[in-house]
Amino acid sequence: MSSDAFSALFAAQPALLAPMEDVSDAVFRRICRQLGADACFTEFVNVDSLLLGCTRNERKLKLAEDDRPTAIQIYGADPARLVEAARIAEAAGPAFLDINCGCWVPRIARRGAGAGWLRDPEAMVAMAAQVVRAVSLPVTVKTRIGWGPEDQMPIVDLARRLEDVGVRALTVHCRTAKMGYTGSADWRWAGMAQEVVRIPVVVNGDIRTAADMKRALEETGCAGAMLGRGAIEHPWVFREVKALREGRSPTPPTTAERLGLLREHLLANVAARRAGWGVTYTRRYLAGYLRNVEGGAELRMYLNHSDQLDDWLERIAALEARLAN
Ligand SMILES: Cc1cc2nc3c(=O)[nH]c(=O)nc-3n(C[C@H](O)[C@H](O)[C@H](O)COP(=O)(O)O)c2cc1C
Repeated sequence: MSSDAFSALFAAQPALLAPMEDVSDAVFRRICRQLGADACFTEFVNVDSLLLGCTRNERKLKLAEDDRPTAIQIYGADPARLVEAARIAEAAGPAFLDINCGCWVPRIARRGAGAGWLRDPEAMVAMAAQVVRAVSLPVTVKTRIGWGPEDQMPIVDLARRLEDVGVRALTVHCRTAKMGYTGSADWRWAGMAQEVVRIPVVVNGDIRTAADMKRALEETGCAGAMLGRGAIEHPWVFREVKALREGRSPTPPTTAERLGLLREHLLANVAARRAGWGVTYTRRYLAGYLRNVEGGAELRMYLNHSDQLDDWLERIAALEARLAN
């Protein structure tokens, strides 16, 4: 993505689909984009396995022609390997490159990758500077407000320093690494970071609805917002964000739309994977599609024990027929 296109994307207060391992794959990105997501992020890609040439990563790096704008996210603990991996990721043609400095999961953060970088903000900035120098695409960073529980969170100072070394945007999941997913995200930190820099700051954490996104942007003055779990629960959130932006009342999805999109998602997952795996992989989205659907809880319980595509299709069609009468 050119520098101008990058600036234009963030000038429009974008709603971004978060990078989510085993969730934000090409199929889900396409669905969210069709519903109005302004840009998407890939699942994070481990630099060590990327450099080893793991086939799973090749799938993660493959971006279809219509999968744009999408950023590739990489993570690792070693700056030299991050630089090397960034060059490989750049060749895959993403809109921009994102460095994960926010993953709190102990097996990753303890080794110094992901949120592990927050234990040494100086090293994080030096690493980001190296990656920025190594590629010509815009480089962004996604992180948390601090490692925790610092008296003064490093995020505001970090935002300034990352801007100084050429990072083009910063996403802040407004929790500390130590919080994991406990407590609630404090959006004020993203707002304080945005106040001190000219690059876009993206507010993230606990934005579940279009109304939440509107409030987060108004309260923080951030350039954009990123949604993760809210999109899994309700991918129509992006359509609802668009409606609010345009001053319209959001239209909730009908039951027919819910079941129709579930079928479309299922078939796309099966086309992208081995049949059985494509079916079971779809289970993680079931709760969202079937929420508030009459008979949805029973259907979900049943499908959670079936890995047969025909079985899924028949059961979905049967519920559709029942509800249509
Ligand atoms: C299943 C799952 C997988 C995730 N994987 C990633 C990832 O690969 N990279 C990343 O930066 N964050 C990852 N995250 C964190 C999200 O991108 C996001 O920062 C976090 O969930 C907070 O936003 P939310 O409250 O909108 O979900 C993941 C979150 C979930 C729920």
